[in-house]
Amino acid sequence: MTGIICAFYVDVPIFLLVMAKQRIGIIAGDGIGPEIMDATLQILTETGLDAEFVPLVAGLAAVEQGLPAMPPATVDAIREIGVALKGPTTTPSGGGHVSANVALRKGLDLFANVRPIKTLPGVKGPFADKNLDLIIVRENTEDLYAGIEYQPHPDVAQSIKVITRQGSARLFEYTFDMARKQGRKRVTVVHKANIMKLSDGLFLEEFYKAAALNPDIKADDIIVDNCCMQLVTKPEQFDVIVTENLYGDIISDLCAGLVGGLGLAPGANIGKNCAVFEAVHGSAPDIAGKGIANPTALLMSAVMMLHHLGHHEQAERIRNSVLRVCRDGQCLTLDLGGKASTGEYARELIHVSHEAAV
Ligand code: NAI
Ligand code: MG
Repeated sequence: MTGIICAFYVDVPIFLLVMAKQRIGIIAGDGIGPEIMDATLQILTETGLDAEFVPLVAGLAAVEQGLPAMPPATVDAIREIGVALKGPTTTPSGGGHVSANVALRKGLDLFANVRPIKTLPGVKGPFADKNLDLIIVRENTEDLYAGIEYQPHPDVAQSIKVITRQGSARLFEYTFDMARKQGRKRVTVVHKANIMKLSDGLFLEEFYKAAALNPDIKADDIIVDNCCMQLVTKPEQFDVIVTENLYGDIISDLCAGLVGGLGLAPGANIGKNCAVFEAVHGSAPDIAGKGIANPTALLMSAVMMLHHLGHHEQAERIRNSVLRVCRDGQCLTLDLGGKASTGEYARELIHVSHEAAV
């Protein structure tokens, strides 16, 4: 942010251009959230990033205070700041509080969820030799996640799937633009329009309208079940995948598994005026509090955030440190077959980053 300060020296006004500190909203999250956020913020700080981290309440911490899981004040603060880094938040299955994520994504109209899937050197996985590099763009505010559910009868529950022309059109416009900026050659839409002829049919129709406006990028479509089979047998064929909210949620966890697991998959929730960066994974209650979670997914989400904010040098420094530590393979977390704790891995990243800087 930039401001102008007017000072007076004798009778002459002097205008000073002041660069205000970059502010970043921080939601630590639940479960492993605080552990991986702590590691990530240490690494961000070590790059010399001149930013003010603004802690914001959400998730179980908010519920315990009698607030909604995503308090309106937190949503307002992110709207005002324009950018946030978020740890995972727990949402109970069945009953309990509504999802903090759904509230945040809808509240800020963060319509595109961008999830890059990339092989890291040295990380074992079923396709480690294939150098996978694809991007999933998941619609983030509609579909069965619109939250319209009711029970017309105690034995019947209905959830409404909402797909709008406007919501689909803006997603595809964003996706083709992003694909072009990143030098991508092909965009594939994933759907089930053979069965859901109206909702997925409308989504598919809007996709081909957008494709016609972007003839330099190859566009095609695939039905979601076949897409899953293709992804686990020949994932290297995909470049950019764009899809609805539910399919995108499922496919992105599947794709994380192709490149070494959820500990490595970052993401960005993009809206017109603000963006929230967070890992694909959840709060991992099975390993929470043990200090063994892999912070890479959140850290690489922070790298996406730094690029978004124009701090490319710091972003590349962190990315290169991750590449070096993974390639070296001596200090990896448990999920990647190593023995390092979250803290040890973070310290090694900082060490490697300092070494590279001298
Ligand atoms: P999960 O993604 O939390 O965990 C799935 C598996 O991956 C677990 O075995 C976990 O230990 C492992 N894992 C996840 N992240 C890891 C990391 N950074 N390092 C090492 N291992 C990692 O999915 P689950 O268990 O289905 O969901 C737990 C909670 O998280 C639920 O309440 C769910 O609603 C919430 N959730 C929140 C999300 C968010 O805030 N963006 C996204 C997905 C789930
Ligand atoms: Mg998910």
